[in-house]
Amino acid sequence: MLKFPENFYWGTATSSYQVEGGIRNDWSVAGKKYDAGIACDHYHRFEEDFDLAKSMNNNAHRFSIEWARIEPEEGKFDQKEIEHYRNVILALKKRGMEPFVTLYHFFLPIWFVKKDGWLNADAAKYFERFVEKIVLEYKDLVKFWITINEANVYASHSFLRGNWPPFEKSFYKSQQVLKGIAEAHKKSYEVIHKINPDSQVGVSQMCISYKGILRFFSEYYWNYQFLDQIKDFQDFIGLNYYFSSSVFDILPIKLGSISDLNWKINPQGIYKLLKTLKGYNRPIYITENGLADAKDEKRKNFIINHLKWIHKAIEDGIDVRGYFHWSLIDNLELHRGFGPRFGLVEIDYENDLKRIPRPSSKAYSEICKNNAL
Ligand code: BGC
Repeated sequence: MLKFPENFYWGTATSSYQVEGGIRNDWSVAGKKYDAGIACDHYHRFEEDFDLAKSMNNNAHRFSIEWARIEPEEGKFDQKEIEHYRNVILALKKRGMEPFVTLYHFFLPIWFVKKDGWLNADAAKYFERFVEKIVLEYKDLVKFWITINEANVYASHSFLRGNWPPFEKSFYKSQQVLKGIAEAHKKSYEVIHKINPDSQVGVSQMCISYKGILRFFSEYYWNYQFLDQIKDFQDFIGLNYYFSSSVFDILPIKLGSISDLNWKINPQGIYKLLKTLKGYNRPIYITENGLADAKDEKRKNFIINHLKWIHKAIEDGIDVRGYFHWSLIDNLELHRGFGPRFGLVEIDYENDLKRIPRPSSKAYSEICKNNAL
């Protein structure tokens, strides 16, 4: 039996726009492909969804607060939405699940984008004002704040590859955006600590395990550049890990195990990343790890194999304190639509958004219950 440390956090992760439904933001107005519509209607069904998480013996849950709901117009806060998320947090607490709250997960209010979003010289101030409002509201309920989800992924899809709003293709802008987000994070870090010195504040960073000749350059550019920019402003590191990459990935045939999205499954990669992240000298939470697997053929082993390597890292003295599987339920897989299935629980989009736990969720619930593999 591989035991995990006492008080280890076990959970799942979601993000507002990908599951809630009924959100008006920069994506919902970007064309049909980007409009989540009613999504999983998690906005109205969060209690039911948290019951499912609870039945998986989770003691924590990661979700995001949608900035566009809270501040739909510049400087005007929507009290009804603030109450909504209070109820969300209370519903978690009632079930004994620690909330890990993300404040920015790719999606933006329309007014902010009209001002050039993160490229605006005052972007950090706008974000800080939203963060301050939120933290003042929930300071007694929330300890763990993830200010920014995957700045690198956002900058790349939205400003370099042109896949996501605002569909730019500029290396220069993508670098500027990273800087803007780093600024916003630092200001938020300070304001959160001013309001509640006991808070734990960090970001989630999507890291790829690289192999081969381009490894050192890619690791710096993709994995560590942003983390270095905010180095002294984090109480923990949030690691999102999905796949490894090598120069041979351009070949049409992939060797080894892959997910429905052709992402290379490489559990040992998480161990290698944890070893390097140790250098930041902060506790680490795995804030996302998962795969698209509609048939649920690989998910159970995927979880077990990644956890084995995480356990090995812990044995080696790396301070890993939690694991959040992406995702609790199937959801809008960004520009890829609702096709890819990342959920431990299936959503039947044809049948009233019925929730159907996949067999792997049983396996995960056993692990969480035993705090062991
Ligand atoms: C993101 C999620 C996304 C998942 C799978 C992560 O990079 O944070 O929003 O759904 O990957 O692509």
